Amino acid sequence: MRAFFLLPSPMLFCFDEKMDSFFKATTHSAKIKQLAVLTSGGDAPGMNSAIRAVTRTALQKGLTVFGVQSGYHGLYHKKWTQLTARSMANIIQRGGTLLKTARFTDFLKAEVRAVAANNMKDLGLDALVCIGGDGSFRGAHALWAEHQIPVVGIPGTIDNDIYGTEKTLGFDTAVNTAMEAIDKIRDTAESHDRVFIVEVMGRNSGHIAAQVGLAGGAEDVIVPEDFTPLDQIIKKILDSKNKGKLSSILVTAEGQKPGRAYDLAEQLRKRANIDAKVVILGHIQRGGTPTATDRNLGSMMGNAAVEALLTGETDLMIGVRAGHIVKTHLHESYTLKQEPPTPLVQLTRTLSF
Ligand code: F6P
Repeated sequence: MRAFFLLPSPMLFCFDEKMDSFFKATTHSAKIKQLAVLTSGGDAPGMNSAIRAVTRTALQKGLTVFGVQSGYHGLYHKKWTQLTARSMANIIQRGGTLLKTARFTDFLKAEVRAVAANNMKDLGLDALVCIGGDGSFRGAHALWAEHQIPVVGIPGTIDNDIYGTEKTLGFDTAVNTAMEAIDKIRDTAESHDRVFIVEVMGRNSGHIAAQVGLAGGAEDVIVPEDFTPLDQIIKKILDSKNKGKLSSILVTAEGQKPGRAYDLAEQLRKRANIDAKVVILGHIQRGGTPTATDRNLGSMMGNAAVEALLTGETDLMIGVRAGHIVKTHLHESYTLKQEPPTPLVQLTRTLSF
């Protein structure tokens, strides 16, 4: 349940019971007639559902909608097309992003952002919905702070490493993709009595690893947020062997502290003569049909993003908590830290004996 209070200052206060806090929205006074939407950073399953929800909500409200191609690169090079209700047909079930995406590092430069902002103003694009991760939100925040372009972010990244939301778009699909792979690896691991190290994505985030480790019944999970000493990993494998468990699966996040999966395999061999096979799941985790959870997150967040812009809010990220939409300042979404997945890692260890 949320209650809104309109104050004389350009702030919209909103009490959020789920977050148990006041969210003080920054406001704008622009009359939005034309809206731009883009996807930026790594693609994530569910992005298409969010694009569809943004477009169709905005069209219902009488706005014109433009889809920017390849994220901020398209904003800089004026690559956009008008989106219609029909152009959104049959995309909800597709992975990837219809608008394409890019990691456009030039957008870190103020002069590049100024060109993009002028391009938007020239075409009369009054506001922007940015679907992406922390880097993308830095760009969106700067467009508001430097050029007063109203912006709202939707967290789209498989890493689930954004503060202000329980789940990011694509995370659930990536977890399920990785879990299915682990189930298959377990068959061969068990047949050969082997140790496998399965490396999942998550540059600096162990959320995929933690979810997948628990769901896949792994022996151990190694995440970048917590340091796991090599001796502890070795002890776990050897203890399991002594108890008659001849195959083991270790899940590591690609940003894990002891080193990437091949480094860990090398250390296990050198230190304890353990022969571990390495599987790096890589980009298959980013593709594929989005789960119902990701599709519905995309729909809820896309709709809420447009509603927020039309009620005068800006510079915020739409998130979800306990099934409800919550809002966070864009700046906080990338400066504050998502809770580490430590409890899931500990539970995996507790249950794997
Ligand atoms: O989008 C997030 C992510 O998939 C990370 O988990 C991974 O480290 C990174 O992107 C890979 O990025 P790229 O596809 O650009 O190499």
